[in-house]
Amino acid sequence: MNSLDFDKLSLPELLQELVVMFSGKIAFSTSLSYEDQVITHHIFSNDLPIRVFTLDTGRIFPESYSVLNSTRERYKKEIEVYFPEASSVESLVTKKGPSSFYESLENRKECCFIRKVEPLNRALIGVECWITGLRSEHSENRKALPIVDFDEQRQIQKVNPLANWSLDDVKAEIKKYNIPYNVLHDKGFVSIGCQPCTRAIKEGEDFRAGRWWWEEQSKKECGLHS
Ligand code: ADX
Ligand code: SF4
Repeated sequence: MNSLDFDKLSLPELLQELVVMFSGKIAFSTSLSYEDQVITHHIFSNDLPIRVFTLDTGRIFPESYSVLNSTRERYKKEIEVYFPEASSVESLVTKKGPSSFYESLENRKECCFIRKVEPLNRALIGVECWITGLRSEHSENRKALPIVDFDEQRQIQKVNPLANWSLDDVKAEIKKYNIPYNVLHDKGFVSIGCQPCTRAIKEGEDFRAGRWWWEEQSKKECGLHS
């Protein structure tokens, strides 16, 4: 795929192109964030045949469930929900308790693997094109993020349509189409993950400063995106 051509397309045009190229083998992962709601809006309101799924780790915010509800109601479409394997969570919490992620990086990655990465890998079975809401502005790690990427580990095309969008672009789109969004975004939460691992950020802080805030900046990825 030539990423240069994709720079020139609007979001709905890009999604439509991908549908033609990857018919029946295309899926979008939504964390129900600002960014993801914009993509969901264009998929659902244009009736595009793209699977939309979310990973419910079992530890997400009540406000995130509210967005899931309001999105279902608004578009009258289904968002597939993937849960972690029950036996893996049972074993983790039995052995290490409910908050092992605060104790070490190893424990945190173990929890993220069980609750996010393994369900993601399951959700992506048979998928040839994975759409995400990643933006290059999110962090230093993501600075060089292309629109069209290749996930080496999973050996699939990965497309980040909002790679070059600013937060203001995202907010403007939300407003323009009156898209349902997570009310936590109005309370200082920019990047929203699991409840025990996300806090609001202060003015001037990095977008992802509120994620796993007790860890060093450089290690803040959970394994969904390598
Ligand atoms: S994370 O790796 O730190 O958790 P982030 O919250 O920045 O990721 O979200 C980036 C993209 O990863 C989202 O736009 C979405 O495509 C995907 N993603 C993250 N969390 C989830 C989730 N719980 N369910 C589905 N997709 C997710
Ligand atoms: Fe577990 Fe926290 Fe990762 Fe969620 S973000 S899966 S609670 S370590």
